[in-house]
Amino acid sequence: MKVTIDGIEIDVPKGTTILQAARMIGPEVAPPAMCYYTKLKTSGGYCRTCIVKVTQGSTANPNPMPKPVASCRTEVMDGMVVQNVTSPDLLEARKGVVEFLLINHPLDCPVCDQAGECKLQDLGYEHGSAKTRYEFKRREYEMIDIGDKIKLHMTRCILCYRCVKVCDQITDNRVHGVVHRGDASEISTYIAKAIDNDFSGNVIDVCPVGALTDKTFRFKQRVWFTKPVDAHRKCDKCSGKTRVWLKGEEVVRVTSRMDQWNEAEEFICNSCRYDHKRTSDWVIEGPTKISRHSVISQNHYEHLNELKLQVLKQQKALGFMPLDKRP
Ligand code: SF4
Ligand code: FES
Repeated sequence: MKVTIDGIEIDVPKGTTILQAARMIGPEVAPPAMCYYTKLKTSGGYCRTCIVKVTQGSTANPNPMPKPVASCRTEVMDGMVVQNVTSPDLLEARKGVVEFLLINHPLDCPVCDQAGECKLQDLGYEHGSAKTRYEFKRREYEMIDIGDKIKLHMTRCILCYRCVKVCDQITDNRVHGVVHRGDASEISTYIAKAIDNDFSGNVIDVCPVGALTDKTFRFKQRVWFTKPVDAHRKCDKCSGKTRVWLKGEEVVRVTSRMDQWNEAEEFICNSCRYDHKRTSDWVIEGPTKISRHSVISQNHYEHLNELKLQVLKQQKALGFMPLDKRP
């Protein structure tokens, strides 16, 4: 099936969603996605950040779709034409979605552990307004301990349902979820009952904001001062392939390896995540390559080398002679 997204045509198999097709083209046209998660069945359809404009439904029916559609839930039709970044109207609509997501979300990035790797923070910078028009009191909740390793800040939650899906898909008994509806919706504390599961720590990795944080890492370090490395160990519960976050020689946290869409390549077990915090526990494969736009990559010296090469190239083109080489 042929689909054109922002003027770029691609051939995709039947059943591919617009979001998946856009990701196949690349990050320059892929819409942001706060609730869709490739590895979680039935995810997507909650946050509306992935909306796109369909200017031609298909070759058979070339009419445009009357309003923006959620690209994570809309399958491609043959001959479909889609606009994302090339449509000013669509970008304005997405700005509205971000404004909605931020209605209740506190602007506490300076003290939030997710700062630097929060998708809502990125979205706010890329699509947000400078100030809110909301005049009412924001929702506020007490913090909740989910077991001894995870903290829930419901105040920051954007109700993307990813953690609900993780718990739902790692345990046989449904003991958690979103209770109440509309403005009063909140993640049920029954989620705490899923905590016995060996894979429960993955709710931290899937949470796109700082609502679910790792208590063993909280307030230890700003993420941009750490050095992530890919590492592995022999594990009988998961693949043992993780990302180990170092501060000097100290292992400050262990997470799943995230791909360029900020999704876990493989879910990891709690033992790898919490119980192996010495560098000697791990076989270090090398520095993590952060391919997505992220402040975390700023701490990697290869960027400085690249910058230095660019400067030298420009100096050469301008015939500039460095001070130490001048006669
Ligand atoms: S706690 Fe995080 S992962 Fe769970 S619904 Fe809220 S924002 Fe999503
Ligand atoms: S990512 Fe599509 S609706 Fe949330």
